[in-house]
Amino acid sequence: QGNGAPSSLDRRLVVVSNRIPLSWVQEGGHLTTKPSSGGLISALEPLLKAHGGLWVGSAGSEDSAEIREQLESAAKQHAYRYTPVFVTADEQVNYYEGFSNEVIWPLFHDLQSRCVFEPRYWDFYQRVNRKFAEAALAETEQRDVIWVHDYQLLQVAHFFREQRPEACVAFFLHIPFPAPDIFEKLPWRRQILEGLLDYDLIGVQTARDERNLIACLRGFLPHYKIMGRGRRHSVLGPQGETRIEAMPISIDYRDFARGASADTVVERMASIQKQYPGLHIAIGIDRLDYTKGIPERLRAFRALLRDHEEYRRKITLMQVVVPSRENIPRYQELRSQIEQLVSSINGDFSEPGWTPIEYMHHSVPREELLAMYRSADIALITPLKDGMNLVAKEYCTAHVENSGVLILSEFAGAAPELGAGAILVNPYDEVGVACALRQAIEMEPRERHQRMLRLRRQIRNADILGWRDHFFAALENLPERKAAQA
Ligand code: G6P
Repeated sequence: QGNGAPSSLDRRLVVVSNRIPLSWVQEGGHLTTKPSSGGLISALEPLLKAHGGLWVGSAGSEDSAEIREQLESAAKQHAYRYTPVFVTADEQVNYYEGFSNEVIWPLFHDLQSRCVFEPRYWDFYQRVNRKFAEAALAETEQRDVIWVHDYQLLQVAHFFREQRPEACVAFFLHIPFPAPDIFEKLPWRRQILEGLLDYDLIGVQTARDERNLIACLRGFLPHYKIMGRGRRHSVLGPQGETRIEAMPISIDYRDFARGASADTVVERMASIQKQYPGLHIAIGIDRLDYTKGIPERLRAFRALLRDHEEYRRKITLMQVVVPSRENIPRYQELRSQIEQLVSSINGDFSEPGWTPIEYMHHSVPREELLAMYRSADIALITPLKDGMNLVAKEYCTAHVENSGVLILSEFAGAAPELGAGAILVNPYDEVGVACALRQAIEMEPRERHQRMLRLRRQIRNADILGWRDHFFAALENLPERKAAQA
């Protein structure tokens, strides 16, 4: 646990993120809540449950007594409260779907050709970032620690400081930060960087993200002074000093391992395995997103079956895709592309009693997820680029008997930590991924065991508590921010 770093904070923690763990759907004329998905939620929810505080985040498009009641009753189940932010339909289109998910998301994942640089999006992005800042301002005091999360809210500190220049405002970026040749395409690159420097502390996932952010700052804000090296930097500019640190996010290891050992999970695992007698099960679980490399993975799986007949009837791929960002055209196109590929692969190779790909397009409740992880002797996690990828850490943690092989993209943020135990692959290399699958199928039990032991030790030693302690320790050492001097 965190190398003797503090595990508590004597100030109130206020988390600000676009999403809270609840979202709303209209069902039969009623608003009902459903759990939200994604890496940010999986990491922050256990942390806030343990620590308490306040979570500021979006809660539908219109304020209503019904929503406030649902938030109150959800808050009664744990030690933190919610402050809702209401994002209108227009703002949702331009700030969330537009700037966040058609500009920053693809660009920061190196997929510049998917960006839509629409000027209107930028106006809305600022407007909504201001709205989040105001919601946080209304509910907080000078002494609170404000911790803003992710790419939807890069500019919150900028607006927050207009009213409270000396507050402690930190940020964590859950997605990658791109290299300068990519970042420079952003028409608002200078404003984004300057806005980031209104934070006291910026956490990024990996050393590579930190290198990229520092290179962008050097390139595009040359008058700022940058000190430090490796995983810790300080940037001095007219707004004050900003610390930048790489702090890889993780999961609640103990809670996950305990959950995976429950009798109900073991029973369910046995019943899943019974459905696939004598077969290897490879699992893929992703939000439906083009950064996750799902079509590329399916093509690699097809290459295995096409080029190595001996593996037909030997392996099934259980692919779960969790619906995501369904109003955005790229995501709709991706869904049909994936479904066409699944159906053509199954059409080409299925035989009575064996279907190569079991495809699911829905979210999976936690117990079922744990049972699926444990049933699968291979995890195929091949994002084209990913901030971290907590599914990789969850899969290993669930394998409490140290069985299971992790095949992991070298472009996932988790690769530097998990590279020693996983089989690392280039997700664009169809033949290479097919080859990794063969290696996983053929791997001797002893090697599997040793690799998985190593992976699980690594995750246990750097879990979500270590991440929290890292953040708290970084906060303790921050210089006081003075009001702008320039
Ligand atoms: C990623 C992002 C999160 C986001 C999640 C789900 O994990 O880093 O910020 O919440 O995806 O995406 P959504 O757009 O549904 O919030």
